[in-house]
Amino acid sequence: MRRFLVVGHRAVTSPEFSLDDLAGAAGRMDILLSAANAALLVAHDIRRDAEADLLLLGPPDPPRLVRILGHRVRSYQPDLRSNAALIRKALEHGSRVEHEVAPGILASKTTFPEALDRLGPAFVYLRQGGKDIRTTAVPADATFVLSDNQDLAPEEERAVLARDALVLGLGPHAVHTDQAIVLVQNELDRRGV
Ligand SMILES: C[S@@+](CC[C@H](N)C(=O)[O-])C[C@H]1O[C@@H](n2cnc3c(N)ncnc32)[C@H](O)[C@@H]1O
Repeated sequence: MRRFLVVGHRAVTSPEFSLDDLAGAAGRMDILLSAANAALLVAHDIRRDAEADLLLLGPPDPPRLVRILGHRVRSYQPDLRSNAALIRKALEHGSRVEHEVAPGILASKTTFPEALDRLGPAFVYLRQGGKDIRTTAVPADATFVLSDNQDLAPEEERAVLARDALVLGLGPHAVHTDQAIVLVQNELDRRGV
């Protein structure tokens, strides 16, 4: 199982956000949705061995964790607007107890450290300047931790490192979050793990 936990620092947490302004008023929800597509989709299929975990930290009611499970989700398409509608449905569930709001879509009110504890068991923190992923063994069943268009906050970084995360880099350039996920998928596919 490959899990990708993406922190959306400004992603809104009201189910009323507009599907017409995902990059603006919805707090860069487009980054989270593109990251989920990179985690879950290949050209003509879904990656059943993958999970996209989106942590939404924007107003008005953070923190919210939306988990999309490749082996359970039904009719998941690349279209960002349709997938944003799934996020809106997930945001209607604000309880701390995780609930499956649609097949393969789990929602809860969950902090970043709680999300790490729920996911695990091993962590890879993707950070520019980290050890080259191409020459490093990656733990089985790892949760890969990424940020949106801003770096993890110092306390978030401390929480990941406190769980013995391996810090891996993907090359000299800072790439977009979805691009980083595709690079990881390709590397793991190439290794056949
Ligand atoms: C757009 S980057 C974050 C902001 C970045 N510091 C910048 O200068 O724009 C999005 C995320 O993708 C991952 N990422 C991007 N480039 C990377 C690289 N070269 N190596 C490892 N991870 C990378 C990191 O997890 C990062 O938080």
